[in-house]
Amino acid sequence: MKIFLDTANYALIERWFQTGLIDGVTTNPTHLSKEGGDPVVLVKKICALLVDGHISVEVTETAPERVYTQAKALAALSPNVVVKIPCHPDYLCIIQKLVHEEIPLNITLVFNLMQGMCMSKLGVVYISPFVGRLDDSGVDGTALLSELSDMLDTYDYETELLAASIRHVGHVHAAIEAGADVITLPPEILAKSLEHPLTDRGMELFANDWKKLGIQTFP
Ligand code: E4P
Repeated sequence: MKIFLDTANYALIERWFQTGLIDGVTTNPTHLSKEGGDPVVLVKKICALLVDGHISVEVTETAPERVYTQAKALAALSPNVVVKIPCHPDYLCIIQKLVHEEIPLNITLVFNLMQGMCMSKLGVVYISPFVGRLDDSGVDGTALLSELSDMLDTYDYETELLAASIRHVGHVHAAIEAGADVITLPPEILAKSLEHPLTDRGMELFANDWKKLGIQTFP
């Protein structure tokens, strides 16, 4: 399973990248706005750090022809940029055109099975169902992950399932169980999902028992 970081914070990306766990980054207008400064400089810096990873950068234009032009400009920033486009019917024609031009796309804000199926049919690289935001609306977001995963298997689409809007460790487990190809995680959720109180307790117990032996060096 590929793990992406869902942030535009360079210091956090750099810290987590050193672990060898991180395969990419998903940014969005909210993340980039939070960091401040010049987003182009920041995106290029992230792309240079993760040269072999996919860095999603979302369009900010809304009119289809402007989204098309902006998508091409964003893709030109670095060979590892994947352009994020919202899953909206207005963009179907430009998505088709961009796929044809081999611009890698991550279709974001996916909330139902038909949206995911149609985008996969168009041949985008990733579809991003927003699990947490579906939960917020009173619908089980994790169920959509399994439905999309089954759909991709059934029709043998090459599109990868990218579990997004991950808010807690339960979502992480659900994404693994659903067989998501990628999960994008806020750094704090990644940290939390790797911790367990029984691991801490076990380490403490072993350390205490070891002390009883009274030796200084081993081996
Ligand atoms: C993913 O690509 C999005 O940037 C992100 O997961 C959105 O998460 P949120 O719903 O917690 O804002």
